[in-house]
Amino acid sequence: MNSQELRDKFLSYFKGKNHKIIKSSSLLPNDPSVLLTTAGMQQFSLYLSGKKDPLEDFESRHLASCQKCFRTGDIEEIGDDTHHTFFEMLGNWSIGQDETGYFKEGAIEFAMDFLVNELRLDKSRFYVTVFKGEGGIGKDEEAIDLWLKQGIARDRIIECSKKDNFWGPVSDIGPCGPCSEIHYDRGEEYGCGRPDCGPNCDHCKRVVEIWNLVFMQYNRNENGEYELLDQTNIDTGIGFERLLSLLNHKNSSYETDIFKDMIARLEGVSQKKYEDNILAFRVIADHTRSAIFLAGDGIEPSNVGQGYVLRRIIRRCVRYSKMIGIENDVGLGDHVISKYRDVYPELEERKSMIYDIIEKEEKKFEKTIKSGLSVLERLIEEEKDNKMISGEKVFDLYQSYGFPFELTEEIVKEKGFGLDKAGFDESLKKHQDLSRAGAEKKFGGVGKDAGVEGAKLHTATHLLHTALRKVLGESVQQMGSDINIERLRFDFAHNQKMTPEEVKKVEELVNEAIKSDLIVKKEELSLEQALESGALAFFKEKYPEVVKVWTIGNPETGEWFSKEICAGPHVDKTSELGHFKIIKEESSSAGVRRIKAILTKE
Ligand code: ALA
Repeated sequence: MNSQELRDKFLSYFKGKNHKIIKSSSLLPNDPSVLLTTAGMQQFSLYLSGKKDPLEDFESRHLASCQKCFRTGDIEEIGDDTHHTFFEMLGNWSIGQDETGYFKEGAIEFAMDFLVNELRLDKSRFYVTVFKGEGGIGKDEEAIDLWLKQGIARDRIIECSKKDNFWGPVSDIGPCGPCSEIHYDRGEEYGCGRPDCGPNCDHCKRVVEIWNLVFMQYNRNENGEYELLDQTNIDTGIGFERLLSLLNHKNSSYETDIFKDMIARLEGVSQKKYEDNILAFRVIADHTRSAIFLAGDGIEPSNVGQGYVLRRIIRRCVRYSKMIGIENDVGLGDHVISKYRDVYPELEERKSMIYDIIEKEEKKFEKTIKSGLSVLERLIEEEKDNKMISGEKVFDLYQSYGFPFELTEEIVKEKGFGLDKAGFDESLKKHQDLSRAGAEKKFGGVGKDAGVEGAKLHTATHLLHTALRKVLGESVQQMGSDINIERLRFDFAHNQKMTPEEVKKVEELVNEAIKSDLIVKKEELSLEQALESGALAFFKEKYPEVVKVWTIGNPETGEWFSKEICAGPHVDKTSELGHFKIIKEESSSAGVRRIKAILTKE
């Protein structure tokens, strides 16, 4: 079974069971306290915690999806059989309960039916884990009974602690609950032979986890207490690549159709065998795919947050490419995009932007390596008597020049020098603690402090978008937007620098709209209705099924100047904005221009 068949099989199974199929949300989560999307449930957090009713937005409390996910905790583990940075997660949900909702029993029945009757997996090879009770929450006897009812032998129902069998929340606060996982025994030949080998074995991968069923009943609050939710939910997740490998009797997903073309291309170009260079091949394949998906969701390399993740991924990829003698772009991106373009059409649509982002970062890294090398050579010269480089100096090289630790280690070793790894780790940890604190502060505060000025700039951004389309043509499309208290920044697709006349014309159009005192009106529409009504959308897949549409116009005549899907906030009327002024028009990346603009009193 190939990847597309598996995706289709899962989604059509749940569609057949009255689930609404929901598109994957972006890797950039709506929740600013979370760095990246790590699980399928994230786009449903508000519904799972009972703050919103899924019936109102989806006309169903049963949902299923195939979600783009990214876990940064796994970066160092890339290269083994089962970890990826980017991966897909299949999931089904039942949110809240009425006569139609299902909970533990329904979730367990669906999972068994799909695995055994649809995928033809052998039930006698299953193990299931259940929560054994801990921290004031009791053992999940109900789940044990339900698994027994499904014909799972008692000695294959394993009771596990909170560490393994209590899921969530995604950040510190939010919905969570005990879970039950289905694991599959691939057979003795994969095993370590220990008597206690089974699910979560530390010594081998004989038994692999395939499906996590979370019985979401709790909310973890600000004080770290678990309070019962007013509703119960089912949240499930299948690691897509893992299940695909299992169904194809492969040890790892690098040997499935997902990566096959990429690996073959790498073998062809490098004239090296995958089997002899497993780590490098896998890192390159994994990271190429991740970088494309991150850039495809509008993330650009930087030194903080999501941008830093992308930077690290691209740089690691370059480094491992060099190890197998690849110095230039060998077209792996095309393999990724053609593999995924039917599922995630945004990759094809933004192809040139994606390649541009990655290429720029690769070039930057080349420069970094050059300047870092000369510093390192000086260090080696200085320490020629001690033959030892201090951890602090290595960290400095890493921090100030972005020079990778492993590269320093390699070069230093070649010269017969030692290096203080513990000292490096200590400096790194100190730095990470500091930047984590900074990131928390940053991610915690986004959108909340902008207040009235932010709302004004949001509304001005919409006016600017329309004005640009009027002056430069409909091909202008929003590529990014950022607002702080002082200014707005707007990136859009356009191939050349704007002339001073064009800039002036855009300013005039926006200021006319402001002077006309247009009314800013909000409606909630289904995504389909919104698009039909002519509302502009940006990064379509980021939107939930029901969206807010902001229309700026004259309600008496029905004429409107701007209509856009946006979460807000906005002002009530354009006359509140004052005077609009473009302070900069510059290039952002190939084919993308960037405008910075402000609002003044006059
Ligand atoms: N949210 C659960 C997980 O990610 C299903 O494993």
